[in-house]
Amino acid sequence: MSDFNDQDELGARRRNKLKLLQFDKDGKDLIESEKPNETFADVGGLDDVKKKIRMNFILPLKQPELFAAYGKEAGGSLLLYGPPGCGKTFLARAVAGEINANFMHIELQAILGMYVGQSENNLHDIFEKAREHKPCVIFIDELDAMGGSRNQMRQHHDRILVNQLLMELDGLRSANDEVFVIGATNTPWYLDSALRRPGRFNHMIFVPPPAEPERSTILELKLANKPVEKLDLTRIARETKHFSGADLEQIVKDAIEVALERTLETGDIQPITQDDLRKAAKHRKATTLDWFATAKNYATFSDVNQDFQIVLDHMKEHGMK
Ligand SMILES: Nc1ncnc2c1ncn2[C@@H]1O[C@H](COP(=O)(O)OP(=O)(O)OP(=O)(O)O)[C@@H](O)[C@H]1O
Ligand SMILES: [Mg+2]
Repeated sequence: MSDFNDQDELGARRRNKLKLLQFDKDGKDLIESEKPNETFADVGGLDDVKKKIRMNFILPLKQPELFAAYGKEAGGSLLLYGPPGCGKTFLARAVAGEINANFMHIELQAILGMYVGQSENNLHDIFEKAREHKPCVIFIDELDAMGGSRNQMRQHHDRILVNQLLMELDGLRSANDEVFVIGATNTPWYLDSALRRPGRFNHMIFVPPPAEPERSTILELKLANKPVEKLDLTRIARETKHFSGADLEQIVKDAIEVALERTLETGDIQPITQDDLRKAAKHRKATTLDWFATAKNYATFSDVNQDFQIVLDHMKEHGMK
């Protein structure tokens, strides 16, 4: 199958996300929150990332007295970054699921497209609403959309919105305990440096593609409750180096399609076979490699604070050039 399908898939995912935030003509009733069912158990691997999130977000909420002794309250913000399809959005939803919190998904592109004035108000409304509905996770996707290089007018507009976001994040430290802000970006090096100061998005967490055993786990998760023959998933995992979680999900979808075709031909349920998965994997490519090529450039040539050393380490460890 061609790469166009991957693009469609990506587009569909993006459109799907947009559904959550709805703007009417007057800019009222703009926020839809939901309670995700996903938990960390649905996220394959990423143990280090989960641990960091547990320490910062989840345990302070579950055992406030322990953390209060150190002057730490529940609440705060962190930034997830990494190649596409490796679980940033999925993980953010799972955080909300873990703590049984409301989840608000902000697509910055949508807010940036609004009139000057309207966008700041909307951003403020979102944070207000989150305070009314705590515990609440506010997920700000495509954070890099803010403050990127654009024409002067746009830059001015973005600046105002960045300032508004900074104000909301600063307010978070005083008033919004139990409001969690998770930002996500594929291009952390473009992020406005003011957003990276202490108390804002100063926890940057790299969300890497799954390693081999994690790929097995993800395949297993995606195949759960489906009709399958006896499968050797470690083998598929071995043959899918650098594949993202989304790539693996796609392989499972491709294999399901083939099994379904067989089922329709024969009239009884045909299990998904090792061969279906193997062929599907062969026809797909890892979609994370372009990201690493770009990241390597930044990490090598313009990373004065060595923020992205971890990306270089990952590349070395997994034999990427
Ligand atoms: N670790 C994982 N465990 C289980 N499923 C995963 C994992 N990583 C990715 N997926 C699957 O891939 C899909 C896409 O992942 P997600 O949207 O979270 O990626 P992302 O990192 O936010 O990508 P983008 O940068 O394109 O926004 C998810 O809906 C999920 O089904
Ligand atoms: Mg995402």
